Amino acid sequence: MNVQNPKGMKPGEARCPGPSTRDVILGDVTPTPAALLEESYTFLGDEDISYDRYTSADFLQREMDRMWTRVWQWVCREEDIPESGDHIVYDIGLYSFIIARQEDGSVKAFYNSCLHRGTQLRPTGAEGSADQFRCPYHGWTWALDGTLTDLPCEWDFPHVDQEKFELPEVHVDHWNGFVFINMDPDCAPLEDYLGVLPEHFANWRIDDRVAVARTEKILPSNWKASQEAFLEAYHILETHPQALPYAGDANAQYDTFGDHVSRFVQLLGSPSPHMADRITEDDILEQMGGYPAGSTVPEGTTARHMIAENMRKAVGEECGVDLSSYSDSETLDSIEYFVFPNMFVFPGINISVVYRFRPNGMDPDSSIMDLMLMKPVPEEGPRPEPADVVKLDVWDSYTTVPALGGLGGVYDQDTANLDMQQKGFKAAKKRGQTLGNYQEVRTRHVHQVLDKYLAD
Ligand code: FES
Ligand SMILES: [Fe+2]
Repeated sequence: MNVQNPKGMKPGEARCPGPSTRDVILGDVTPTPAALLEESYTFLGDEDISYDRYTSADFLQREMDRMWTRVWQWVCREEDIPESGDHIVYDIGLYSFIIARQEDGSVKAFYNSCLHRGTQLRPTGAEGSADQFRCPYHGWTWALDGTLTDLPCEWDFPHVDQEKFELPEVHVDHWNGFVFINMDPDCAPLEDYLGVLPEHFANWRIDDRVAVARTEKILPSNWKASQEAFLEAYHILETHPQALPYAGDANAQYDTFGDHVSRFVQLLGSPSPHMADRITEDDILEQMGGYPAGSTVPEGTTARHMIAENMRKAVGEECGVDLSSYSDSETLDSIEYFVFPNMFVFPGINISVVYRFRPNGMDPDSSIMDLMLMKPVPEEGPRPEPADVVKLDVWDSYTTVPALGGLGGVYDQDTANLDMQQKGFKAAKKRGQTLGNYQEVRTRHVHQVLDKYLAD
């Protein structure tokens, strides 16, 4: 018998033996929203993915020229710039933008470069409030809306038509509490770009969540390698073995939707298929649910449902919201949507995080991971302020950020592999990575969509 091809299946058809994610969700006590029951997997091939894509400065330059300049990318949350004049600087590779709230409540995004001699109007990483942008070099000044308002010694610049010397802008749009930009003057609308996302998120109000922890960490790896550590649950077995008693891994569900969206749904409160035969419902309760040793799951219910019930109650009380409409899956599971090229958003309650991965300048061996841990905002009373960003260098541990709780150690496990992987890319005799047909399809999907942008 061919072990790789058990029942004469076509590539991509094989699945982990045992109950699938969908089987477990369909067996849940609470009804699950249709979006979570949808399956959308396509076999995308099994060729190796070349390591040059992760190590070559030329490749990064092509990504910058042809991809980053043409995609929608989220730059900040609405609550980062609530008032007129509030602004942040967003850098991507070579580029830098000032994202500024306008008097009428809209948002504009300007190239962060003076029209006199190019100086950045605001330094990298800056955030604050201003009613104008004044260049620190010779004092050329633009109003909040980008019109030129001051040009010292204008007698020397008869060739400058001041009416036309406004700061160049890029497209801005909004979705679910996020502000996006697109550098392509001819880009498709954000709503088209997001594909199924607005429909799937119709009942998931991420705009009603606020960051209670935020980090910006430098990672010692190409931006794609860094984010690929978060696109699959295959690594849980080796990288996060502590989670196996209560976390699905090999039975996670993977979907791709059009060019820009993919998803995994990974069960929690359900054991890994690697050890399901050794784990009882009572074990799950004790190891994930925080129930004392000796607690038992009564007949007619499941550990998963008991943990979800508790979580809806506890998080609801803590945050001042009613979470009773959330299903067990929406409450517990790790439901991860990805938006090309670099956005991760989790609509669940237990795992409610957002990630973004970017090249760190033009260094193919370094990237920036932005992370937000989100909580629902109270239904009554003022909206809490988002947490300040904690900057972490390559070797700083996520556990130094107390607000991340137990997730800090998990992110340390994820990011600990990256330095060795990036070095291994260069040390390799076999010049590319060999991906699983199902569990790593989202990584292949990203590369194939990237290739479409590079080829155009
Ligand atoms: S470079 Fe900006 S005013 Fe001269
Ligand atoms: Fe992980």
